[in-house]
Amino acid sequence: MSRSENKVASYAIIGFGSIGKALARAFARNGIDVSVATTHDPESFASAAAAIGPGLIPTTLAEAVKADIIFLAVRFESHPDVAKALPTWLGKTIVDVTNAYGVPPEKMGGMPSARFVAQAFTGGKLVKGFNHLGAAILDQDPAVHGGRRVVFLASDDDGAAAEIGALAENLGFSPIQLGGLSEGGLLVQARGNSWGQLIFKDLVRFD
Ligand SMILES: NC(=O)c1ccc[n+]([C@@H]2O[C@H](COP(=O)([O-])OP(=O)(O)OC[C@H]3O[C@@H](n4cnc5c(N)ncnc54)[C@H](OP(=O)(O)O)[C@@H]3O)[C@@H](O)[C@H]2O)c1
Repeated sequence: MSRSENKVASYAIIGFGSIGKALARAFARNGIDVSVATTHDPESFASAAAAIGPGLIPTTLAEAVKADIIFLAVRFESHPDVAKALPTWLGKTIVDVTNAYGVPPEKMGGMPSARFVAQAFTGGKLVKGFNHLGAAILDQDPAVHGGRRVVFLASDDDGAAAEIGALAENLGFSPIQLGGLSEGGLLVQARGNSWGQLIFKDLVRFD
């Protein structure tokens, strides 16, 4: 049975920088509880979390990774440290929000960055997404100009892609599924500055 038929999923955001906070605000705006973790003692960012909303639960990385759905909102270089938090990610869905800016393809074994990150989270289902919007845009209410701001999603697991698509809708976004990590993931992968010029737009879908 899928998670949605069984119980309400639990959520965590790893990283509480510009993107982690923007995602946290989306959860708070929609009244969905979410754990947040960094490398620091949760007390150190508790007031910043409380300022965003009462549904934010500052916690440790070890506690946060107990969630069903985990947003990876750390710098690309930090993803292996997060991956080490669990021996297996079986049963977890990881939403990879990282952008591998300035990382040469040979450092990722020639793989799309999303596939490279997926490899580190052994057993987990990885969905690439929410990574094309600058933090200042992601931070805003996605209901704009009578439409909803778009997020692109890519995954090799159709169930996980659908699960994160439904969550994106609950967060007020309009999800667009791009297919697998190698195809869809590459479409929204950071590649130098030209990628930013092409896709760092405040895309809105009207439907
Ligand atoms: N900024 C943007 O506009 C933007 C847009 C799209 C995508 N992205 C991508 O989103 C990711 C985050 O970007 P950002 O701008 O939010 O970065 P940031 O402001 O530097 O925040 C990174 C966060 O990750 C935490 N962190 C680092 N290592 C960690 C670990 N091992 N375990 C737990 N937490 C850890 C940091 O906390 P401490 O170091 O305090 O522990 C910090 O809260 C990056 O991959 C970036 O490429 C950014």
